[in-house]
Amino acid sequence: MTHIRKAVFPVAGMGTRFLPATKSIPKEMLPLVDRPLIQYAVDEARAAGIEEFIFVTAAGKGALEDYFDTAAALEQRLTDAGKTDALEALERTRMPEGALAFVRQNNPKGLGHAVRLAQRLVGDEPFAVLLPDDVIRAPQGALSQMVAAHAENRGHMVATMEVPRAKTSSYGILDVSRQNGRLSFAKGMVEKPQPDQAPSTNAIIGRYILEPSIFGRLANLGPGAGGELQLTDAINADLKEVGVMGFQFEGERFDCGSVQGFVQATAAFALDRADLHAELVAFLRTRTAPLRQVA
Ligand code: UTP
Repeated sequence: MTHIRKAVFPVAGMGTRFLPATKSIPKEMLPLVDRPLIQYAVDEARAAGIEEFIFVTAAGKGALEDYFDTAAALEQRLTDAGKTDALEALERTRMPEGALAFVRQNNPKGLGHAVRLAQRLVGDEPFAVLLPDDVIRAPQGALSQMVAAHAENRGHMVATMEVPRAKTSSYGILDVSRQNGRLSFAKGMVEKPQPDQAPSTNAIIGRYILEPSIFGRLANLGPGAGGELQLTDAINADLKEVGVMGFQFEGERFDCGSVQGFVQATAAFALDRADLHAELVAFLRTRTAPLRQVA
């Protein structure tokens, strides 16, 4: 058992970068190879020892809630037909009864607002936040790595990765005072700085372990970048009293909230699959060879 028992999955965003697909399908239900994005995040949380899963959802996200329900009629039909492979595929979606909770965000006022709505369910203990559109391919789940590091270093912890300086304006960036292996101790955070103003190239991505003091900060937060309630602003406000650490996880992160990142993740995860690898490589070769000749 770990000291982090609860995870919040903010999934109430509009997913405008994936229109028209997200007009009727939640972004988190888009399949990466054959599993929806949300399954990757839930699997990572389960591997880290999470026992309670709190989803912040919104109108139009019904498919996501149904996904984790038991599909009794379907399971019976598959059992009758002796389709054991298909039954095994469903096994992943099975969650212990009572382990899932859903709260609604009526207006997408930002990630900070979404996390604040989970306060009653989280209570007074440190908890994890996972953004399912950040998919991490790693030998050991990124959240498991963070939970282990957090057990020895209390305070707010954000997952970080190095980005090219030209890309700093797409991320929250840490101002680092001290580095100790994968851990960096922050003296500040800047939301989406221009490359020449970024204090480092240590970018924050969608995994957090937060102390419960964050809820007090979120309650007093005004709108930040883009007019939204920004989670990074609330974490920043706790910098002196609680402390903020960056954890540079081992692994590769894909931004599946963007079409480019999603396509790359699809290729990477398909290439990992023994049953898909050879044919996919052969296919990609037929497509990329002419390009190489032109270059
Ligand atoms: P994004 O910035 O990716 O926004 O949110 P989005 O609405 O999902 O997608 P685009 O930019 O319109 O394409 C990051 C995470 O925060 C959640 C999203 O669901 C996503 O997991 N979020 C964002 C909320 O739950 N509520 C919000 O008000 C905003």
